[in-house]
Amino acid sequence: AVRLRVREALGAREPAGEVKVQGWVRSVRSQKEVLFLHINDGSSLENLQVVADPSLENRDLTFGSAVEVQGKLVKSPHRMQNMELKAETIHVVGPCDTWSFPLKMRERHPLEYVRQFPHLRCRNKTLGSLLRIRSEATAAIHSFFQENGYVHIHTPIITSNDCEGAGELFQIEMSNEARESAEKTHFFNVPAFLTVSGQLHLEVMAGAFTHVFTFGPTFRAENSQSRRHLAEFYMVEAELSFTESLQDVMQVMEDLFKTATNTVLSKCPCDVELFHKYIAPAQKPENFLVIPFIVILKRFFFFSCRISYNEAVEILKQASQTFTFKPEWGCDLQTEHEKYLVKHCGEVPVFVINYPYNLKPFYMRDNEDGPQHTVAAVDLLVPGIGELCGGSLREERLPFLESRLQRLGLADAYQWYLDLRKFGSVPHGGFGMGFERYLQCILGVDNIKDVIPFPRFSHSCLL
Ligand code: 4AD
Ligand code: MG
Repeated sequence: AVRLRVREALGAREPAGEVKVQGWVRSVRSQKEVLFLHINDGSSLENLQVVADPSLENRDLTFGSAVEVQGKLVKSPHRMQNMELKAETIHVVGPCDTWSFPLKMRERHPLEYVRQFPHLRCRNKTLGSLLRIRSEATAAIHSFFQENGYVHIHTPIITSNDCEGAGELFQIEMSNEARESAEKTHFFNVPAFLTVSGQLHLEVMAGAFTHVFTFGPTFRAENSQSRRHLAEFYMVEAELSFTESLQDVMQVMEDLFKTATNTVLSKCPCDVELFHKYIAPAQKPENFLVIPFIVILKRFFFFSCRISYNEAVEILKQASQTFTFKPEWGCDLQTEHEKYLVKHCGEVPVFVINYPYNLKPFYMRDNEDGPQHTVAAVDLLVPGIGELCGGSLREERLPFLESRLQRLGLADAYQWYLDLRKFGSVPHGGFGMGFERYLQCILGVDNIKDVIPFPRFSHSCLL
């Protein structure tokens, strides 16, 4: 028999003799004359209907069990599906104790419920869709950059730099045993951390390849248990040499978002639809309900808004809403501020540019303005989430960078970075996009824990 994935079986043009399909049972319905099964193998949201003689039913053939079905692929009489499998044999490969199995047949489990079972929730319909979308989005982001001439760089995960300078680092240490036998405190002779951003390493590479990107795990020891922060998340980062304007950086953010989203929409329309039907509507502001979500996504950036940090602070000061954090020039924009700005601009993406010099990391380019001194930074704020991307032009001028690093007491540690400004320095810029926040944004998922394959510390010591 020819082995077919469920997706292939459903999409087959012609009936076929002897085929074999393997998967997990999503439903069993036994009637007097006929036994119906729905099986799923993760290749699509849709299940394959299996039609069998009731004599093939057995005790182990339950919801959740793993099965192998052999038979004939025939045109389905049902309007809603193309093909079904007429079973000749059904072999239960792995039975499932439905009493103790936390997922139940034909129940729409809430995301909070399945989050308690990190090791089983991928068998839930919604999480199945999410993980297929996540996989497609990952591929789409890689293709976007590859097709536009960027070189992909694996930036280090263990590093000694704190790119963002915010001190939100996880430090790496040897176990006690290893430390004793190595007879030293630091494995690398200097303190080492999990990376908070691959940017500085990308800047090195942009000095040879012009356009580079990285897309990997990133770690932040932020003390915030919010619906948009993770200790371990994925960041997409791009760095572009010979770039003199923030406009060029914003253009790449926009193109990346549009291209990746269009690819996801066309590769897994059913999976995306499931989110917009059952997950997003309840949480979206009204205008997301009137116009179909897909239309909004496709037009996402046609309505995008550009304001300066100065303007943003003015808008916030004039707001009738009272904020927990009073908006003040020189203070960071809080999530509540970001959401207000997005609302103020009409629930569209908002680019905020030119932030206070003292608020931002050392690498951002000095705008040499005053008295309100700013740097060429850009944040992209989106509906429902707030900050999705952060980027800037980088300070490529040696004297500016040198004096800033000296004032911060970092000149020694960053000699290598200063070197980049001595040997063929060029104007450049780049940005980072939080991949989980991107998924939250396009799918309307409220809690960031629901867009990762394994939610940490929610249930099991396995993770
Ligand atoms: O704004 P951030 O801190 O920017 C950087 O790290 C730059 N070095 C990137 C660059 O220019 N190459 O982080 C970038 C994005 C944020 O806008 C946010 O979407 C996401 O990363 N992010 C997080 N996502 C989930 N959990 C967290 N704890 C996050 N911290 C940042
Ligand atoms: Mg940021």
